[in-house]
Amino acid sequence: MKAFGVWNIVLLQLALVLLVQEVSAGRDFYKILNIRKSANKNEIKKAYRKLAKELHPDKNKDDPDAAEKFQDLGAAYEVLADDDKRKLYDRCGEECVKKEGMMDNTDPFAHFFGDFGFGFGGQEQRETPRGANIVMDLFVTLEELYNGNFVEITRNKPVMKSASGTRKCNCRQEMVTRNLGPGRFQMMQQTVCDECPNVKLVNEERTIEIEIEQGMEDGQETKFSGEGEPHIDGEPGDLVLKIRTVPHQRFERRGDDLYTNVTISLQDALVGFTLDIDHLDGHKVPITREKVTWPGARIRKNGEGMPNYENNNLRGTLYITFDVEFPKTQLGDTEKEDIKNLLNQASVNRVYNGLRFS
Ligand SMILES: *[C@@H]1O[C@H](CO)[C@@H](O)[C@H](O)[C@H]1NC(C)=O
Repeated sequence: MKAFGVWNIVLLQLALVLLVQEVSAGRDFYKILNIRKSANKNEIKKAYRKLAKELHPDKNKDDPDAAEKFQDLGAAYEVLADDDKRKLYDRCGEECVKKEGMMDNTDPFAHFFGDFGFGFGGQEQRETPRGANIVMDLFVTLEELYNGNFVEITRNKPVMKSASGTRKCNCRQEMVTRNLGPGRFQMMQQTVCDECPNVKLVNEERTIEIEIEQGMEDGQETKFSGEGEPHIDGEPGDLVLKIRTVPHQRFERRGDDLYTNVTISLQDALVGFTLDIDHLDGHKVPITREKVTWPGARIRKNGEGMPNYENNNLRGTLYITFDVEFPKTQLGDTEKEDIKNLLNQASVNRVYNGLRFS
């Protein structure tokens, strides 16, 4: 028994040595993105987007390694977000992916934030002329707002390229004085321009990805810096995507709360019932009632509402309102008697103005 245990440990050590060698053949992209090996694509995108915001060199000017960390992050995303590259990487590491010539070192940052990142710099940037912002509605489902998702948008973006020749630029109004003879001057306004190298606008296909974050609200905006209208003498404007919620078949949202209606039979309304409501991520919300449920009765399920945007662990309330479906078949005389005996309910004949008083 003891000898067997020792052998086990030796084997384990051997395996560990092999494992370490495997990993040392390049960077550990899973560790860089701080994700599990089984992470799905959305988790990879989410991790990249979050870390890219934190580790961007413009935000870490005091850290001499900032640029390198940011590059590691970009490489990790490039490989793990691509199914083929990820498979290869999982099998034999970064060197393998490089050997196959599959690393293009493209910077995925602009996909998630736009060309100008978060628009740092502040003061100086405001003085340069800017193209118009483009505001676009982005229609999303309640499921996406509940679970979170990434939406890829492909579009043609006009990009400025240099062209031959020159063009007039930086035009302004200036006062000029013309000498009309001894003692006589004429002052007039004139448009004065500089000569600049010529440019032309070329359409380029671009892909951007917007994160539908859990709990985002209708009308909430996400900005892609520099993805708006170009400006020939300055910087392009921003692309602003506005969340618009598509109406849902079963749920209605108010703030972090959800509302739904359930129709039950008269029999269930009287004797009680159990049922499951399918939630927005597919999980079941069980409902059990023993008491009588009257039409319009509303019950609440705490923690079954929408995730809160600021803190996804907090959830709103699910309100369930019941509607009762009456039987459509007519009852016979004996059945009528049976029900009378059973319910033994006195007649209620309250007459009131239901629209103005309740
Ligand atoms: C529930 O029913 C009421 C009354 O018919 C309606 O106003 C409301 O929009 C319904 N809610 C949902 C989530 O279907």
